[in-house]
Amino acid sequence: VRMLGLFSLMAIFLTACGKENLTALAPKGYSAERSFEVIIISILVMTIVFVVVMAIFTYVLIKYRRKKGQEDYVPEQIEGNKTLEIVWTIIPILLLVIIAVPTIATTYDLADESQKDDSINVNVTGKQFWWNFDYVNEGIQTSQDLYIPVDTRVYLNMISGDVIHSFWVPTLAGKMDVNPENENVMYIEAYEEGVYWGKCAEFCGDSHSLMDFKIVVVSQEEYDQWIENMGTPMEEEPATASAQEGKALFEQSCLSCHATDGATTAPAIGPNLTNFGNRTMIAGVLEHNKEELVEWIVDPASKKPGNGMLNAPYLQEGISTEDAEKIADYLLELKSTEVVPEFEPFE
Ligand code: CUA
Repeated sequence: VRMLGLFSLMAIFLTACGKENLTALAPKGYSAERSFEVIIISILVMTIVFVVVMAIFTYVLIKYRRKKGQEDYVPEQIEGNKTLEIVWTIIPILLLVIIAVPTIATTYDLADESQKDDSINVNVTGKQFWWNFDYVNEGIQTSQDLYIPVDTRVYLNMISGDVIHSFWVPTLAGKMDVNPENENVMYIEAYEEGVYWGKCAEFCGDSHSLMDFKIVVVSQEEYDQWIENMGTPMEEEPATASAQEGKALFEQSCLSCHATDGATTAPAIGPNLTNFGNRTMIAGVLEHNKEELVEWIVDPASKKPGNGMLNAPYLQEGISTEDAEKIADYLLELKSTEVVPEFEPFE
């Protein structure tokens, strides 16, 4: 009964922490599938060992228990058994080989860079507490939502802008450390269109647990459309007077850190906000609506403690809710042809 309790507890931990598709047990991509196979082999071997050991243990426990009238009985004392020792040395070696061969093969397979030059390459930068995605050949930058085409290999060249983070999208691939100096490379290839949840998997500060991101897998046509949209941000003036004032405020207080042009080559100090109106979430963790956005602009510490926006000059000077509402109106108007698969972030 205790074991049953333990297993059900394990099952709860293993199957996503409340968010759908945050699990390594339902792979939807090449890397995750290869890792899953290794997980299954390891669990099978461990289960066999567990069952056999427990069976022998139970048998011995019952057969050689102390019987009535045998209180002072000392059983025959045996020392050494060559056959037995050889058997119990060889069996573990075989079991380790069964686990090691596919593990090593998979490790090399997932580190394969032979297709890197012919694939989409994205430079990924982890920062407290958000992700920057720089599409090397397309000349496009974005943050938080990584768009990739389905059934296509995409190489991620990962580096950190501050402390160590870890890139983890359990359903597709991962996890891999993102270090400040040496670049780590991994590739992902998704089999199904959809939105896949990603998390930072290395403790990196106050809001480590909120350093979420998403991988948006779309068709090749939608991907091309998305790249085009990102390179040609909205040029017409905002529709409402409030958004027009918001634009002016944004340019004065926010544009030095947040670009609204995906084709910019300027270094990303804060997340790139091109076509922000098309996003599915704010800062990776908040619902995408005006109310949340205003609260975020006025008091980002309440939503994501320790984040870089707290140093922004506009906050030091203090910002009124009215001004924040105008900026929110402007940002939510930054839209283009929507390329977002259906996504329910708060199930
Ligand atoms: Cu970044 Cu934890």
